[in-house]
Amino acid sequence: MSNDETSDTHFLNSFSVVLGILIIAAIGFFALARSLGRVQLKDQMTESTYLAAIQNNIAPFGREAIAGQDNSALTAPAATAPAAPAANLPKTGEAAFQQVCSACHGLGLNGAPKAGDKAAWAPRIAEGMAVLYQHAEHGYKAMPPRGGTNWPDATIRSAVDYMVSLAKK
Ligand code: HEC
Repeated sequence: MSNDETSDTHFLNSFSVVLGILIIAAIGFFALARSLGRVQLKDQMTESTYLAAIQNNIAPFGREAIAGQDNSALTAPAATAPAAPAANLPKTGEAAFQQVCSACHGLGLNGAPKAGDKAAWAPRIAEGMAVLYQHAEHGYKAMPPRGGTNWPDATIRSAVDYMVSLAKK
């Protein structure tokens, strides 16, 4: 009986010690986590790039120029736009034609000479390639300059060459 009691007391004593250590450790971890968390949260919430990213995420999707107001912010995307088409510049006249020129010249929209239509192209080819290049690059009546792209002369010319070759087949 007395033996049982001492082992119980011994168990209770060591159990209390372990429990105490665990509780102290838990409080310590809690305090540590709080102090770490506060530092990082405070830093993050005031960081300008973080705030800018949030602003960007919640900004309205569409932006409109409003007469009489400062619309300078709207010009920012336009400034970076020219770089984009250069990246996916068509490599051949055919590719350029397929990508853009065919929108009008494929079906002959708005009086555009239809690609492959010999009768429509013959009088134009007769003007000479210099004139066709000139009109394709700078626009001519309903033909928008460069077909509305900002492709370099070489690309526009190869597209003209391609359409002219279709009309000669
Ligand atoms: C928005 C429609 C449209 C697109 C896109 C377009 N064209 Fe045209 N193009 C026209 C129209 C319309 C004409 C006829 C103009 C006229 O003679 O009245 C024309 C005429 C031409 C001519 C003949 C000009 C002449 O002197 O007779 C050439 C060459 C030409 N386009 C090349 C191109 C090339 C190259 C592209 C692509 C980079 C292209 N076009 C994209 C509408 C378009």
